[in-house]
Amino acid sequence: MKVDANTLVLAIETSCDETAASLVLGGTDVVSSVVSSQIEIHARFGGVVPEVASRAHVEALPHVVDQAIAQAGVSPERIDAVAATMGPGLIGALLVGVAAAKSYALAWSVPFIGVNHLEAHLYAALLDDPDLEFPLLVTLVSGGHTMLIEMRGHGDYTILGRTIDDAAGEAFDKVARYLDLGYPGGPAVERTARAGSAAAINFPRGMLHDGLDFSFSGLKTAVINHVRANPDVDSADVAASFQEAVVDVLARKAERAATQIGARGLVLGGGVAANGPLRERFKQIADSLGVKCSLPSREMCTDNAAMIGAAAWYRLRSDGPMSFDTGAFPNLALPVAQ
Ligand code: KG4
Ligand code: ZN
Repeated sequence: MKVDANTLVLAIETSCDETAASLVLGGTDVVSSVVSSQIEIHARFGGVVPEVASRAHVEALPHVVDQAIAQAGVSPERIDAVAATMGPGLIGALLVGVAAAKSYALAWSVPFIGVNHLEAHLYAALLDDPDLEFPLLVTLVSGGHTMLIEMRGHGDYTILGRTIDDAAGEAFDKVARYLDLGYPGGPAVERTARAGSAAAINFPRGMLHDGLDFSFSGLKTAVINHVRANPDVDSADVAASFQEAVVDVLARKAERAATQIGARGLVLGGGVAANGPLRERFKQIADSLGVKCSLPSREMCTDNAAMIGAAAWYRLRSDGPMSFDTGAFPNLALPVAQ
């Protein structure tokens, strides 16, 4: 199959709590992108309930796909391939998207592509900046992952560091829950932090001088201990100081990794990359290193289907269509160089 600037991919994302569909042309041109969030459904439980998520995907997906096609103003015959996230994520939620994508692909007699959700987060930055030069240092910070990745080319990755316990987004979510700031945690902490001082409390920077891996569970415990010992402390100061500790450790390790690999650009990806102070700090590092800084728009940082369509186009070009026997893989890892 010829894969070029005219190849139109319908992409579907259902790995967690967003039901999303998008049409992406030529790997980087987002023709339409629809995201239906389940946040309100899960908010009263304080977190994502997997079984509820799967059912909500089943209900929402056909409408979200119809909307993405309608917004693009194309007829289904124009679509050249259908992609869906095949992992990592919640197994029931993934299966909804994979089964739907295969059904559309079979009905329209076009290829199916299963996409790695982590790889897709890396491609979110390329949607805005298709001409980024390799090697790139990608900092992938989401609810489930925290990784420093050397990207030498399309599909060519080495993981330089990762969290040994909680993911950065998980730390935001847990601290928000403890401080009763609302759900989802990251945006709630950022909002609350605006009224506080980042220098109010000197929270620990886990493993700061210890290689390129991360640890955030000690920070979470330090927040809890501080609030217990100082019940009258201002939540805004706690939120701002906690956020500063996360940003500081991510930024300093990313800077070290970028220098180590001679990166030509810094890229942020994943939901936590929507965080304002983190984005500011990465711009400063890139400036001081004299390299490009690529920050996906906030909508492209959190889960969406446009990034799935972008990654799918590159995979279709390098590996061709995937077998319809392919399933869903809740623990799928980023494909790294051997
Ligand atoms: O990438 P994502 O949408 O889903 C996963 O693949 O995990 O990331 C969700 C995570 C959540 O932990 C959420 O609290 C965090 O990203 N997040 C933020 C912000 N917006 C979302 N964390 C800090 N600041 C934000 N503004
Ligand atoms: Zn994600």
